[in-house]
Amino acid sequence: MTSASAPSATTWDAWQDEGRGFQVITDTELERFALHFPLHNGHTAVDVGCGNGHFSRQLHRFGYQVTGLDFSTSALTAARRTPLSGVQYLHHDLTQGDPPGLPAHGIDLVVCRLVLPFLHEPTAWVRRVRDLWLRPGGRMYAVIPVVGEDTTQPGGMTEEQIADVAHGWAHSLRYDLNGTSAALALRAAFT
Ligand SMILES: C[S@@+](CC[C@H](N)C(=O)[O-])C[C@H]1O[C@@H](n2cnc3c(N)ncnc32)[C@H](O)[C@@H]1O
Repeated sequence: MTSASAPSATTWDAWQDEGRGFQVITDTELERFALHFPLHNGHTAVDVGCGNGHFSRQLHRFGYQVTGLDFSTSALTAARRTPLSGVQYLHHDLTQGDPPGLPAHGIDLVVCRLVLPFLHEPTAWVRRVRDLWLRPGGRMYAVIPVVGEDTTQPGGMTEEQIADVAHGWAHSLRYDLNGTSAALALRAAFT
């Protein structure tokens, strides 16, 4: 899938200021995340498209050393209003390649919550994360709004596109979230 009309950083700045495009983290989401992603103090997590950092802060509570990435200056300003040791936020546009300083095959967990439909070629990008970002056995958590086959609205993916994202992992689990989104718990192979 190619998202030719992906919103720009400036558009995201405006949406951030209006409080648009963000989905509340429910207790159910956190319970299911804890169930499928065993807690590991000190493990590294990259929260891609971290927005105002609310999931980055949850990851910190779970014990991860977190890097949140986003290309929206407004979102990062909001995220940095709640500084936490062990959580850093970096300005980075994912369409411009991998973040500088990324340790190849060194990340334990990549989180991609409500971001994939906005990326160009999201399935290819997910495979790059699996093959270059994650350590052997590393994990990915994705939350993706589900849309029907006939919609051209940005921000969601069809079941077929979601299945494509989940394909080719050593372990993959898809479950429903909030009645509107699919959550993917993915694990890369150990070798
Ligand atoms: C719907 S928000 C989700 C924010 C957060 N992950 C959450 O769960 O609330 C999508 C975020 O992805 C960011 N984003 C979209 N395209 C991006 C890109 N190419 N590079 C970096 N960040 C991007 C936006 O700035 C925005 O903060």
